[in-house]
Amino acid sequence: MNTDARRRVEALRAEITRHDYRYYVLDDPEIPDAEYDRLMAELKALESAHPQLITSDSPTQRVAGAPSAAFGEVVHAVPMLSLENGFTDEDVAAFDRRARERLGVTEPLWYWAEPKLDGLAMTAIFRNGRLVQAATRGDGVRGEDVTANLRAIRAFPLSLSGDAPRLLEVRGEVFIPLDGFERMNREALARGEKAFVNPRNAAAGSLRQLDPAVTASRPLRVYCYGLGSLEGWEPPPLQSEVLGALKAWGLPICPHAARVRGVEGCIDYYRAMAERRARLTYQIDGVVFKVERLEYQSRLGFISRAPRWALARKFPAEEVLTRVEAIEWQVGRTGAVTPVARLTPKFVGGVTVSNVTLHNFDEVRRKDVRVGDTAVIRRAGDVIPELVRVLPERRPEGTVPVKLPERCPICGSEVIKPEGEAVARCTGGFSCAAQRQEAIRHFASRLAMDIEGLGEKLVEQLVAAGGVRSPADLYTLTVEQLQTLERMGEKSAANLHRAIERSKHTTLPRLLYALGIREVGEATALALARHFGELEPLIEAARSHPERVEEVADVGPVVAAHLHAFFIAPAHRELIDALRASGVTWEPLAVSAAALPLEGQTFVLTGTLPSMTRQEAQAALSALGAKVAASVSRKTRYVIAGADPGSKLEKAHALGIPVLDEAGLRKLLDAHRR
Ligand code: IVH
Repeated sequence: MNTDARRRVEALRAEITRHDYRYYVLDDPEIPDAEYDRLMAELKALESAHPQLITSDSPTQRVAGAPSAAFGEVVHAVPMLSLENGFTDEDVAAFDRRARERLGVTEPLWYWAEPKLDGLAMTAIFRNGRLVQAATRGDGVRGEDVTANLRAIRAFPLSLSGDAPRLLEVRGEVFIPLDGFERMNREALARGEKAFVNPRNAAAGSLRQLDPAVTASRPLRVYCYGLGSLEGWEPPPLQSEVLGALKAWGLPICPHAARVRGVEGCIDYYRAMAERRARLTYQIDGVVFKVERLEYQSRLGFISRAPRWALARKFPAEEVLTRVEAIEWQVGRTGAVTPVARLTPKFVGGVTVSNVTLHNFDEVRRKDVRVGDTAVIRRAGDVIPELVRVLPERRPEGTVPVKLPERCPICGSEVIKPEGEAVARCTGGFSCAAQRQEAIRHFASRLAMDIEGLGEKLVEQLVAAGGVRSPADLYTLTVEQLQTLERMGEKSAANLHRAIERSKHTTLPRLLYALGIREVGEATALALARHFGELEPLIEAARSHPERVEEVADVGPVVAAHLHAFFIAPAHRELIDALRASGVTWEPLAVSAAALPLEGQTFVLTGTLPSMTRQEAQAALSALGAKVAASVSRKTRYVIAGADPGSKLEKAHALGIPVLDEAGLRKLLDAHRR
């Protein structure tokens, strides 16, 4: 006797029993279904290799959990079966082949194909058209009496319409549509309760309520898909016709079912539903194929607990378990420091996933993800894989909560996470390789130093070549060096060089904005420049007296803190010195508390401008104090019109309001900026 096998079998049984209890009794599963199926498959395989280990109480010997003692028991006159699962097209072909062989049919069979709803099975008995009893599936033989609760579901009829049979037992799935599920969870969280893990558990928890009033308040739905006991009715020959009859009696039927022909029809239906799945309003975990002809169904009969005439073709698992191998920190172009979990690679939702973003530090803390944890990862449709939760029950000893790094993993600068903000950032700016390219692109951009022709692609090349490590390096580039760049002829290199030279003469607001200090946009840069007049007094205040910076309109403690962090970093002092040394000059601004130049003027934008986005135009105007309104009136000072303007342009003409194109807008902006 293999004692290892015995031990493993016992361990698996204990674990499966525990999961059954959590799933069926507590409605609070710990692991994803795919993981449960894996445990069950392992147990089945061990038992078939060592049949002497099979016991009558093994979880493989029954279909599902025992009914809860809280409800009365119902014995199903016709047992409620389960379905055989298939995972590949080949499984579908084999199912079809076996069915045709048994029936002795050579031509393709017709199937009734329908979504496999992810809820819980119920059975309902109507006597003379009135709902008299309802039950859950339980273990397939005995279920729980949930009559009062099913009656509380508005989406299910209390009586049948038309000429109903003496006795009709219908079977179907109770489920919660996705929007209802989200609403329920939002409300549960707002009440400080735990959210439901998935719509199926929410449905199970809602149907199996001791107080039917609670069930009534939940967004439950039912789709009927089959029959149990019958009296006084001879069902029609086809499954599709049976469902047609149920529908005519007023029972809800899934609208996405279809008749399909042969294996090809089944496979096409599966593909179509897999593609549609993400857009459905309810959750499904596969599709079910049922032999259409009822006479064939009864000839095919059952094996163990499942009919030979039906197959569930399951979608690939969307949730699986894996291990968190490491948590690393990535630095983005804007300096955001983001945690990423490295995982033991697992196939989920059709792709292999080996790492997932954890978004930010607060998220890591909220989920309490630790290195060594077992985690549920999920990938549904084309959605980015996510770490849903970790299983504290499986946490190994000696793990520690994750800490935010104090230093940037790329450049070693300090990482700061402002109070109340989710995102932590590297303060390195230009000195951090991860941020260099973005920082230089911003420096050269139109509202900053305005280096014409120096766009994203060129900056990328200059940084990659290694020659440009800071914006000051731009001013050391020669025409010859620029000519070595991709697609850069003599003439364009000379033009670019001239543009770089021209940018040396700038204004203080532009320079301040160009430095890319966090939360110092155009308007703030202008306000700072107006308040301090020159750069040195601003630096001095930011470094030693941040409260003086807060005297500037619209500057609060957060911006003051960003300015402080920026100007105490030696790399930034060096940058400013290097800019000065290479000949960059900026005109001081007359200190004034005067109103902004366009204050009191209202602008209206219409159509698409050739090179500015609506946001850019709006930001530039607001920075100068202008108001941007949605509609034209007599009070409008200018209408800025681009391509395909709307009725606003007509109105402007009608009211005689001056209209500017992008060039005109630029001229106006420049006139006031300098
Ligand atoms: S037919 C004898 N049709 O899947 C046929 N079941 O794994 C038994 N289910 O307990 C069920 N959608 O809860 C059938 N369109 C569908 C279904 C469906 C979901 C569930 C049902 C059943 C389980 C079997």
